[in-house]
Amino acid sequence: MDWSTFSIGNAAGFIKGPGLPFDDILASAATDITIGSITLEPRAGNPGVVYWDGEDGTSINSLGLPNPGMAMTVRYLPALFRQATQSSKRLRISIAGFSPEEYQQLSRQLHDCGSHYHEIEINLGCPNVWGEGGQKPIASFDLDLIRNVLMQVMMGFRVEKPCEFSLKLSPLSDPLYLASVAELVRKSDTLIDRIVTSNTFPNGLAFEGQKRAIDIPYGGVGGTALRHIALGQVAQFSEALKGTNVKIIGVGGISCGNDVSALLAAGASGVQIGTAYGKRQGKIFSDIGLELMEGTG
Ligand SMILES: Cc1cc2nc3c(=O)[nH]c(=O)nc-3n(C[C@H](O)[C@H](O)[C@H](O)COP(=O)(O)O)c2cc1C
Repeated sequence: MDWSTFSIGNAAGFIKGPGLPFDDILASAATDITIGSITLEPRAGNPGVVYWDGEDGTSINSLGLPNPGMAMTVRYLPALFRQATQSSKRLRISIAGFSPEEYQQLSRQLHDCGSHYHEIEINLGCPNVWGEGGQKPIASFDLDLIRNVLMQVMMGFRVEKPCEFSLKLSPLSDPLYLASVAELVRKSDTLIDRIVTSNTFPNGLAFEGQKRAIDIPYGGVGGTALRHIALGQVAQFSEALKGTNVKIIGVGGISCGNDVSALLAAGASGVQIGTAYGKRQGKIFSDIGLELMEGTG
């Protein structure tokens, strides 16, 4: 394991702007901070109860991408970037568009604001956007859509690639489809530096007694229930992308040092933490650092 390239930080969805979570993670042992996902327009997210916190560390959420929108984000980004770099942390902005063209607009707006970030994470895996026609498609499951998003983002550069890019995917349960996504990434390795896997597993459900635990029909499954799925995704992508410079970032069910060690053994070079970070905030990174050093927990 090459620890010089190891990264650890929060997964997208937990820090959308300035304020307390940002101060907390700045002071933590995280190497990376992820802001977003940010959409073009501000979004209030889904109404009602949208988060279920399972006793075993599993989460089901249907937040629906609440965020302040890109125009507001680029206003506060320079200050966040300054603070992050002063604390020796990499700043990553997660973007979520509703069409390939929107991904181009989002990355260009970020670029035009003066590149106050180290990396753009292209989120193709949000399962929680519902509208009048029902649930919106999840881009991770449509190879043509992924190809178009990557093409649009690339076409948005005026001269050269402005920063590092990662591609965040839903867990892909069909191994042949996963191989075709990996092949597309292999061909796009001039754009994509990292695969981030996984976003939540779509359309899970929890009950409190006889009643559904969230108010939206289904929610994305994260935390403990995702751990072994994420390990499988990391191992398959790592195998499929051997010989390229694309790195794999493991996300899913991490709550201790052993979970991180397993993802690294499966081929990840870094990790992000969602559900457990939401509960334990920045302290989780120093706890895990200690466990990794001591080879415990
Ligand atoms: C409350 C919540 C909000 C999330 N919002 C986003 C988001 O805005 N963008 C995104 O890419 N992933 C989002 N995710 C997915 C996480 O970033 C992460 O991929 C997933 O939860 C798996 O990690 P975990 O098992 O550590 O929770 C969200 C997850 C949760 C639980």
